[in-house]
Amino acid sequence: MSRTFFVGGNWKMNGDKKGIDEIVDFLTKGPINSSTEVVVGCPQCYLIYTREKLPSNIGVAAQNCYKVAKGAFTGEISPAMIKDCGCEWVILGHSERRNVFGESDQLISEKVGHALDAGLKVIPCIGEKLEERESGKTQEVVFKQLSALLPNIKDWSRVVLAYEPVWAIGTGKTATPDQAQEVHAQLRQWLRDNVGAEVADSTRIIYGGSVTAGSCQELSKTGDIDGFLVGGASLKPDFIQIINARG
Ligand code: G3P
Repeated sequence: MSRTFFVGGNWKMNGDKKGIDEIVDFLTKGPINSSTEVVVGCPQCYLIYTREKLPSNIGVAAQNCYKVAKGAFTGEISPAMIKDCGCEWVILGHSERRNVFGESDQLISEKVGHALDAGLKVIPCIGEKLEERESGKTQEVVFKQLSALLPNIKDWSRVVLAYEPVWAIGTGKTATPDQAQEVHAQLRQWLRDNVGAEVADSTRIIYGGSVTAGSCQELSKTGDIDGFLVGGASLKPDFIQIINARG
């Protein structure tokens, strides 16, 4: 089964209106391979600004949301608010949400379920820490994170799964194609064993962690890497080369 190549940009807590205008400019100029699905994740306060500035062929994601529709949760936003800003996507469970802000597998799962129920498309993130990889626990860790999502995902067609080894995020230490492919294949097999063949074959599994214009080509050639979730490099014009990695 062919899966549409997917490239996400995660701006994290970066940018201002001037910087967004510069990103919008290079994304609008492209040229962008029409067979690649592109989504950019911007800070919540710029969701409307970014949505209104970007051409409609590029999706906009929030970088987080809460697990319920409304209530006394100061500082949080709901999936409905993201949709009200004209945006369709949300990134959830990013390693920074897990390791900086202490989000548990269970909380992330509930957020994913509520976001899907509210009609959003979701990019859940999973990935092991360096010490977990070095102690041979990568598969155990990512399977635990993925299985926690299972009870709250009824519609896998609106899920793009991101494998982001924590040791590769923001470090310049990109996983090798073999390292990434090995885990992507394990995740796809997990989906086949625990959800079914159709979901396993159709779900995009994307790689994140120091992806650059220099590393994206080799990574994109493996069988189970269906795209990327890009941090730092998504803020610069080189992001176009990453988007077009699979010509
Ligand atoms: O969500 C993508 C991010 O975690 C990767 O960041 O800067 O290593 O591409 P970076």
